[in-house]
Amino acid sequence: MLNNTIIVTGGAGFIGANFVLDWVNADLGTVVNLDKLTYAGNLENLVDIQDNPHHIFIRGDIGNRALLAKLLAEYKPRAVINFAAESHVDRSIHGPEDFIQTNVVGTFHLLEEVRSYWNSLVAANPAEKENPQFRFLHVSTDEVYGTLSATDPAFTETTSYAPNSPYSATKAASDHLVRAYHHTYGLPVLTTNCSNNYGPYHFPEKLIPLCLLNALAGKPLPIYGDGQQIRDWLFVKDHCSAIRRVLEAGKLGETYNVGGWNEKANLDVINILCQILNELQPRSDGKRYEEQITFVKDRPGHDRRYAIDATKLERELSWKPAETFETGIRKTVEWYLNNQAWVHNVTTGEYRNWVNQNYAGRTA
Ligand code: NAD
Ligand code: TYD
Repeated sequence: MLNNTIIVTGGAGFIGANFVLDWVNADLGTVVNLDKLTYAGNLENLVDIQDNPHHIFIRGDIGNRALLAKLLAEYKPRAVINFAAESHVDRSIHGPEDFIQTNVVGTFHLLEEVRSYWNSLVAANPAEKENPQFRFLHVSTDEVYGTLSATDPAFTETTSYAPNSPYSATKAASDHLVRAYHHTYGLPVLTTNCSNNYGPYHFPEKLIPLCLLNALAGKPLPIYGDGQQIRDWLFVKDHCSAIRRVLEAGKLGETYNVGGWNEKANLDVINILCQILNELQPRSDGKRYEEQITFVKDRPGHDRRYAIDATKLERELSWKPAETFETGIRKTVEWYLNNQAWVHNVTTGEYRNWVNQNYAGRTA
């Protein structure tokens, strides 16, 4: 019998932390949270559940086979959800190696240990092979599909992969491995390909939190190129609800696109952000935040447009996002304004001391 425990990897990052918080706060079972705590991992994201016995934090790498084997044997999870990744396109352009290590090699090691664990479940209970209860859910991105022109239809689950950045190429590689482990070994896998997320706990290297915090600090809001690149934006809590739904009801071996039907050009996103800031926290000099917008050199190989067709998830699994861009972005701005201590610790780098100060003795 499997425990009502799940292992989440990368659960101290932006989306993983939101997922773990929602899961534990909704009392859905115990989460074993395996995270390496790279620059993007922040245990302060999880402070609300720091003393909750249903959250077990383990500092470690998804490429550490011995650790994975130990955790799988000890906790006997009913699912493993893989959020762990290097996730920032600009960093992947400057230094792709960590992306290869974590997104490709790390996912491979994780798959191997999960396969071995699942084989042990099958050996103990042959019904697990025909009708698996265990799930491996791999969290991926729409960026694996490449770029669209203004008139192309949105990405569907059958759109060919054509990744353009080192980041998206490594995510594509991991998606292919996950697919192959299902096809070859029968591993019960699910994959989600989601559009750009935004919301609480977003690390300020990505467009929305970077511009939000730069605006408040009186710094330039850097817009790459002409600012007309289009992304489909989804509030992070909606991404988390989609993952829960796919985990619960998704068809094994299938992929599900997750998106918010919110295509917007970068410049429009930043103008909306500025309007909300003008209203909620006006500049002390009476000027508008839009004045801080600065056009800068474009990103090399910059994808022009992403658009997600989430019809399959909506039709087959009855999932719908709860937020529009307008409601989600307002909640996001309010969250940042109300969480100044988090912002301070992230912008000063103080958050990196959190693990030593608050989690001493609790990491592997
Ligand atoms: P993030 O960079 O904020 O967090 C990644 C987390 O993974 C961090 O806590 C980091 O410490 C951890 N990590 C990195 N390497 C690790 C390793 N080797 N072993 C264990 N932990 C490791 O990323 P995010 O934005 O939360 O994205 C999470 C997942 O969702 C990623 O797989 C990403 O590709 C995918 N995704 C992100 C978006 C988005 O808009 N942010 C959209 C679609 C899909
Ligand atoms: P980002 O948040 O890095 O996500 P991704 O590259 O995965 O889509 O960037 C979102 C969009 O914003 C993308 O088109 C690049 C652009 N961008 C800027 O214009 N300025 C910035 O400072 C950043 C970080 C991104």
